[in-house]
Amino acid sequence: MAGRYKSKLTWDDVTPKSAWLNRRQLIAGGAGALALGSIAGPAAASLEAQKTDYGQGLEPNTLEEITSYNNFYEFGTDKADPRRNAHMLTTDPWSVEIDGLVDNPGSYSMEDILDGVTLEERIYRFRCVERWSMVIPWVGFELSDLLNKVGVQAGANYVAFETALRPDEMPGVKSPVIDWPYREGLRLDEAMHPLTIMATGLYDAPMPNQNGAPIRLVVPWKYGYKSIKSIVRITLTEQQPPTAWNLYSPQEYGFFSNVNPERDHPRWSQRFERRVGSGLFSKQEPTLMFNGYEDEVANLYQDMDLIEFH
Ligand code: MTE
Repeated sequence: MAGRYKSKLTWDDVTPKSAWLNRRQLIAGGAGALALGSIAGPAAASLEAQKTDYGQGLEPNTLEEITSYNNFYEFGTDKADPRRNAHMLTTDPWSVEIDGLVDNPGSYSMEDILDGVTLEERIYRFRCVERWSMVIPWVGFELSDLLNKVGVQAGANYVAFETALRPDEMPGVKSPVIDWPYREGLRLDEAMHPLTIMATGLYDAPMPNQNGAPIRLVVPWKYGYKSIKSIVRITLTEQQPPTAWNLYSPQEYGFFSNVNPERDHPRWSQRFERRVGSGLFSKQEPTLMFNGYEDEVANLYQDMDLIEFH
């Protein structure tokens, strides 16, 4: 369990109002090494996600690092803003509109979404386009489970995602940094890939608001901006959907955004990265093709020019 992480667990930031957990996987107060006594309110519940082999041998970043150095522009553009402001986001109740080319369109509550789902821990590498990286022990389930539940219709080629847009709760959306709401998209085969998950927690606890509570996407072989937070809409489409950073600057941020050390960002090289927490003057590490998931995902892009289709 959590004891193996060797991290300084401080739970100050993990205080979401509601614990979006599969109730059968809730263990009230039974989190072993975690200092649960210090958590106030319903978040004191921990969640027991099924352990998996993903990320064996990787040393996760600390909870403190994962929850204090964030990109979530709806709450401000400084790395410290999401931790400071994301508590304003109401995550309970929460529902996700699922529409487009699906058999069962509609508004799905978190309870609907988690019904019958097995939550797993997936320790994944996470590589931001800005050249920092982390290793994060997510809790979630495969996106394909949800898509199969709602029934994908023939003719669907892409999956589009949208983040909540709530000016009253999100101080950052007053600035037109990007064309709100934050939007992302995947090709259907990428969305159905077993590595692609919907995450509802991390470090055996519900998702902290600054990391995208109550439900976000995680696509570990792509730059972090594809992993859209606090999702309220999922739409199955025939055409490639517009995406926030691609609209902002298509040359810099492609639709695919696969981690690729060979394809420079126009303003910087992507050959190296620095692990958050490893120290300001620490050695840079080489960036891995598909962020280290080449064996699993290279076949999705077999005949594609990965420089042109970046
Ligand atoms: N999702 C939304 N809605 N808004 C954002 O600003 N930032 C993206 C991505 N998802 C972002 C978002 C970027 S640039 C990164 S690197 C990751 O979230 C950061 O995830 P983390 O803060 O959990 O590490």
